[in-house]
Amino acid sequence: MRGFKGIVFVLSRVNRNRSALGEKGLSGVSNASLGFYTVWAAHLGRRYGILQALSRRKRRAGTGAIARACGLHEPAVRVWCEAARSLGLIEGGGDGYRLPADRRALLANPDDVRFLGGQFSYLALRSLDFGAFDAFFRRGEAGAPARRHLREASEEATRWDHTSFLEFLLPRMADVRSRLRAGARVVDVGCGTGGWALTMARAFPRSRFTGIDPDREAIRIATGRNAGGDRRVRFLVGSGAASMRDSGPYDLAYLGEVLYGVKDKLRLLRQVRRSLARDGVLVVAEGLVAPARRAAEPAAQLVAAMGIDFALQGARFFRRSELDALLADAGFRRVKFHDAGGGLWFVVAGVDPSAFGSERGGAARTPRGDR
Ligand SMILES: C[S@@+](CC[C@H](N)C(=O)[O-])C[C@H]1O[C@@H](n2cnc3c(N)ncnc32)[C@H](O)[C@@H]1O
Repeated sequence: MRGFKGIVFVLSRVNRNRSALGEKGLSGVSNASLGFYTVWAAHLGRRYGILQALSRRKRRAGTGAIARACGLHEPAVRVWCEAARSLGLIEGGGDGYRLPADRRALLANPDDVRFLGGQFSYLALRSLDFGAFDAFFRRGEAGAPARRHLREASEEATRWDHTSFLEFLLPRMADVRSRLRAGARVVDVGCGTGGWALTMARAFPRSRFTGIDPDREAIRIATGRNAGGDRRVRFLVGSGAASMRDSGPYDLAYLGEVLYGVKDKLRLLRQVRRSLARDGVLVVAEGLVAPARRAAEPAAQLVAAMGIDFALQGARFFRRSELDALLADAGFRRVKFHDAGGGLWFVVAGVDPSAFGSERGGAARTPRGDR
């Protein structure tokens, strides 16, 4: 989740001065409506490659040229360009359109820490499943229709987490960074379509990564994304101890926006702890409910609003104290919370040696030659 800080920034930028004088009572409605269309225009621009095509051009491009470059229907491109210009996503008019430099990073460069395109796509894709609210409100459970676009939406949203892990968190964890540089064993629990493990494998060529997820389709996609067949990276279908056992013990375990959606959280965390080496490190990425004194801040409001999306998934956000207690119960200690901004936290913990001694037998602890 969800560079909310950034989304708030973009929406306020692109919609500023929209509330005309004399429209006071309705200004909230028009801003909300413009926010809705901004989310969709940004998502469509990314989905059909228009923003990416504009980001590659130095000069303005006409709608015919954009349509040809992207293989799209020109009248659809024209209407999108006018909407996107009006919303402040792009600039231009009759003689062509351009994507200003500051918006290239925000909307078209997924490797930039300022990139927010994925958050817009997350919101748009999740809204495609909101038809399931009928069942949720009437029967209390929405079932599979609530999750049809969840995998794709999550893949879009967590791009930012992965960049933030590299650029925000690792500089604060010098020891983990040097272990990754030297060659570490890493498990990505709930790896989804593999984005974190693959990004990390590119950044740390001496380390090995095992991604585990119960979602067979996600693992199929992740394996396909490992196009060069990099043997340092492997993806396995699974969720618990058995799938973590054979390639551990691990120096680092990552749970990126996984825990909130897991039914037996304590059990999973204990399994992860047993798969770690004595000096292993756990990193959990989660959105956290803001304390009451910060409830009026935009990121806190968005986390609270997003509660309806999480409820539809049968989940909810953690409170900080709750996650802290859960990690202690599972045998972790030295828990540190890092606020990455926009509602996302990285929570870093070490293995409690007393828990380590009392519960052997999780991972096969054979001596390793490559440490
Ligand atoms: C929001 S996605 C995050 C994917 C990935 N960590 C990332 O950063 O892109 C959550 C993932 O957790 C997986 N998951 C759910 N329950 C799990 C469990 N018990 N053990 C492992 N993974 C689980 C889901 O299948 C899904 O792929």
